[in-house]
Amino acid sequence: MKILLLGSGAREHALARALARDPQTTELVVAPGNPGTAAIATNLNIDPCVPEEVVALATQMGADLVVVGPEAPLVAGVADAVRDVGIPCFGPGAEAARLEGSKAFAKEVMAAAGVPTAEAAVCTTEAELTAALDRFGAPYVVKEDGLAAGKGVVVTDERPVALVHGRACLSRGGRVVVEDYLDGPEASLFCVCDGATVRPLAPAQDFKRLLDDDAGPNTGGMGAYSPLPWAPADLAEQVVREVAQPVVDEMARRGTGFIGLLYCGLALTGRGLRVVEFNVRFGDPETQAVLARLTSSLPELLHAAATGRL
Ligand code: GLY
Repeated sequence: MKILLLGSGAREHALARALARDPQTTELVVAPGNPGTAAIATNLNIDPCVPEEVVALATQMGADLVVVGPEAPLVAGVADAVRDVGIPCFGPGAEAARLEGSKAFAKEVMAAAGVPTAEAAVCTTEAELTAALDRFGAPYVVKEDGLAAGKGVVVTDERPVALVHGRACLSRGGRVVVEDYLDGPEASLFCVCDGATVRPLAPAQDFKRLLDDDAGPNTGGMGAYSPLPWAPADLAEQVVREVAQPVVDEMARRGTGFIGLLYCGLALTGRGLRVVEFNVRFGDPETQAVLARLTSSLPELLHAAATGRL
C-alpha cells in the first residue's frame, strides 16, 4: 500500500512509525514531515493545507491511501478534495471537521445526538459573555469557538482572567463559548470511524497544563500515558455506546458522514461521563502512547475506515 501522510509533528512521527513498520506499507511519503519521519519515510515539502498540492502529490505517487494528521488541512477541505479524485482518505470532510473547528457546532450536534456534555452558552457580545460568566461562576471555563491549536481554552478561578480571554476570543472570531466546569479525571478515547461503524483504540490520559502539579496555562498537551489503570474496564465500550456512535449516526443523518478519527475528550465526573471536547484527528501527545501499544495493522485499519469497510 502506498501511503501519503500529511503533517509535521511528533504525532505524525508516531503515525509514520506505526505505518512504516507494517509489511502492508510498500511506500510512505510524509508531507512536509520532520527529521524523525525523514529517517523512516520520504519527506516531500508541500503545503498540506492546499487541496490542489495534496491531490497533485497523491495522484503523482499513485497513493492508495492519504492519512491527514493535523486538523487545519481537514477544516480546509483537503479530505474532500482527495476523495473527489477517487483516492481513499482517512480524515473527515470540511463539514464534519467542524466538530473540532467550532465548539458551538459540536455542542449543537451533541444536543441533537443526546450526548452528555457540560451546559454551555455561546456568546457573541460582551454583555452575553459577562452574563454567562456570572451564571456559571468559578471555576470559569472559557473556550475560543474556532481552531486554536489546543490553546483556546482558559480554566480559571479569576473572573478578570476569564473576561480578558473571552474578550480576546470575541475580537478574533466573534464567538466564545462559556461552560459549566466539569470535575473529575479526564481521559481521551480515539475512535476510528468509517461513516457508520466505530472502533475504539485504547484510552489514554494527557496533561494539558504547562507546569507541574497541573499549574500554568493550557497547552496542546505536555505528555500522555496509556493504559489507564484507574479507569473503568468498560470505558471504551461505554464511550462508543453513549458518545461516538450517536455522533457518527447524527453526522450520517445530516448527510456529512464522519470518516476518520473522532477524538473524544472526556471528563469522568461524579455525575457520570461528560464530553469536554471533540477533535477530528489523532491527539498529540496521546498518539505517541496509544500507537506504541497497537498490535494490529494501522494501514489496514485506516484503509478499511477510508473505504467504508471497518
Ligand atoms: N492532546 C490534546 C489534543 O490533541 O488536542
